[in-house]
Amino acid sequence: MESKDFLSDYIVVKALENGVTLFGLTRGQDTKFHHTEKLDKGEVMIAQFTEHTSAIKIRGRAKVFTKHGQIETGE
Ligand code: TRP
Repeated sequence: MESKDFLSDYIVVKALENGVTLFGLTRGQDTKFHHTEKLDKGEVMIAQFTEHTSAIKIRGRAKVFTKHGQIETGE
């Protein structure tokens, strides 16, 4: 059976300013936005990679924690 290991992956995003936006992008042939989520300063979202979501885009200043390490987005 095909491995579905990616399904257990998730990231943690902490907004460092108001209006940080997370975009979920579809898995498969077409890569399109399917979800937009706004976070205000201090808000945290825990976002999984799923059957429907293969990529996550973040706009604005945020701290992102992944199994690959920690990164700050924005300026
Ligand atoms: N319905 C989406 C899904 O199951 C919800 C989702 C999961 C999502 N991870 C995300 C939305 C990351 C935005 C960003 O795939």
